[in-house]
Amino acid sequence: MLTTTLITLITLTLTLTTTTSTTTTTNICIIGTGISGSSLSHFLRHYSPTQTQTIHLFDRHTKPGGRMATVTIGGDTFEAGASILHPKNYHALNFTKMLGLGVEKGSERAMSLGIWDGGKFLFKTVDSESKSAVVQYLVSVVNSVRMLLRYGVSLLKMNTFVEVTVDSFLKYYESTETRPIFSNVEDMLKWAGLYDLTTKTLEDELVGLNFSPLLIQELITVITRINYGQSVSMSGLAGAVSLAGSGGDLWAVEGGNWQMAAGLLNRSDVTLHLQEEISTVTNLGGLYELNSTNGNSYTCQVAVVATPLDELNIQFTPQISIPERKLQHTYTTFIRGLLNPAYFGLDKVSDIPELVGTIENPELPFTCISVLKQNKVNDVTYKMFSRQSMTDALLDQIFSIRNETFRINWGAYPHYHAPEKFAPFMLDDDHLYYINAFENAASTMETGAVAAENMARLILSRLSDKKPSSSYGLKTSTADSNLQHPEL
Ligand SMILES: Cc1cc2nc3c(=O)[nH]c(=O)nc-3n(C[C@H](O)[C@H](O)[C@H](O)COP(=O)(O)OP(=O)(O)OC[C@H]3O[C@@H](n4cnc5c(N)ncnc54)[C@H](O)[C@@H]3O)c2cc1C
Ligand SMILES: *[C@@H]1O[C@H](CO)[C@@H](O)[C@H](O)[C@H]1NC(C)=O
Ligand SMILES: *[C@@H]1O[C@H](CO)[C@@H](O)[C@H](O)[C@H]1NC(C)=O
Ligand SMILES: *[C@@H]1O[C@H](CO)[C@@H](O)[C@H](O)[C@H]1NC(C)=O
Ligand SMILES: *[C@@H]1O[C@H](CO)[C@@H](O)[C@H](O)[C@H]1NC(C)=O
Repeated sequence: MLTTTLITLITLTLTLTTTTSTTTTTNICIIGTGISGSSLSHFLRHYSPTQTQTIHLFDRHTKPGGRMATVTIGGDTFEAGASILHPKNYHALNFTKMLGLGVEKGSERAMSLGIWDGGKFLFKTVDSESKSAVVQYLVSVVNSVRMLLRYGVSLLKMNTFVEVTVDSFLKYYESTETRPIFSNVEDMLKWAGLYDLTTKTLEDELVGLNFSPLLIQELITVITRINYGQSVSMSGLAGAVSLAGSGGDLWAVEGGNWQMAAGLLNRSDVTLHLQEEISTVTNLGGLYELNSTNGNSYTCQVAVVATPLDELNIQFTPQISIPERKLQHTYTTFIRGLLNPAYFGLDKVSDIPELVGTIENPELPFTCISVLKQNKVNDVTYKMFSRQSMTDALLDQIFSIRNETFRINWGAYPHYHAPEKFAPFMLDDDHLYYINAFENAASTMETGAVAAENMARLILSRLSDKKPSSSYGLKTSTADSNLQHPEL
């Protein structure tokens, strides 16, 4: 009796899976609506247009976008989190174009830069308000010469170092015919030739390339502090990515980068559950049960974590195990008012560079201050990064006028180490996935999209593996010889 039922059941299941591959519905649940979660839903639809999947996305916040968010200060909108994109961030470029969003380019005139050590400016570029192209050109030549004089020819090596890294990264845009599906971060990085950079600190890497110590301690430190809030003892790969974010031709989405996430979700036919925080994920054997703090319960065949797990208390059953990782907190303070020149030992506000960067000095209360907008002579909007919260008392020393102050404490990005340890993309042997494992390589909007694109293919290929014949025409990761013998 039991055997007959079993056989009937098996037959039934087989019939179901073989004949209904276009009609069975797979429920996919994604935790997080940042660029990772939103681009995952986009790529799932892109690579599997005919499959019937229902995609549910959850976010504890009221708006999608995660670390892409804006603030409004005095009627103007500014990026509060992720702000700049590189000209070779091709997914972000394509999303922007596809969604009909505008592109905002950096201004023609370079911001004046000063490197502050807590007591004095170690280096300052010369500045000119002149609109004349000739004057601007001369100013940029003078600044280049001044930089060369201070930092020597290794300054030129900086560009090469960044270009080589960016070129390796471009492999992730190769056709899916030649680009394998990666089932772990290490293989993904090795395939592009980027893994070695995660095994050394940025400092060791650059010393090995004969960069001058002054360049590393000053200019490069200023950049890693601005982009990742960390010193040159961060991993070489995250360091290279942060240097790439200091070049020219940087851009942003007009009106806010978060619109990429909103637009992708809008076009991917998803069910959006905003203000719904997932508190438990339980593997019931082939099905995941996601419970939210709102008291709702959802079941899905596939569950994807699209947010860093480090500071979350999502309870997984059975428990998952990932390497311990700390997030670097970046306190972002927006101020409308005026800097106090006396704080910098200067007479006039106009002598303070538009971008004040800093070196590693534990006494320094902030990482950088930059001008966002000059409203009037005595009315400027600034953005400030620091590793600790800026108290009112401290701000009153740095600013002579402070009409508006707005603070955000971001669990901003991983605190990078070398050698870096990576969490798995697959958190169990079934269908529990973790996109942000890739964030330990580097944390940017584009790396989120690149990791999500791979994740979409990984999920679809593993789902189709369970069926007798693959309907996706995708190679599976284990069958790919590239993975076993990374070309390094
Ligand atoms: C100050 C700052 C500056 C930056 N500058 C840049 C830059 O200039 N350029 C650049 O490319 N990158 C920059 N970054 C990095 C960039 O923001 C991130 O790498 C990227 O946005 C991460 O996207 P994500 O989708 O992986 O994660 P997130 O954007 O963090 O999205 C995760 C989402 O999950 C939600 N969530 C978390 N837990 C739960 C739960 N239990 N239930 C439901 N929802 C949950 C969160 O609310 C969040 O919305 C910056 C970051 C910061 C903080
Ligand atoms: C971006 O779009 C162009 C044109 O549609 C396409 O050829 C290219 O492959 C896309 N790039 C990425 C990274 O998807
Ligand atoms: C959603 O997409 C449609 C087109 O597919 C567009 O008309 C609409 O404005 C979009 N909505 C939002 C909120 O972006
Ligand atoms: C999730 O919610 C369901 C339905 O309310 C409940 O039966 C289950 O025990 C909950 N799971 C956990 C882990 O709390
Ligand atoms: C800012 O505050 C000062 C007083 O501290 C005031 O004189 C000034 O008008 C204010 N400026 C703006 C733009 O609100």
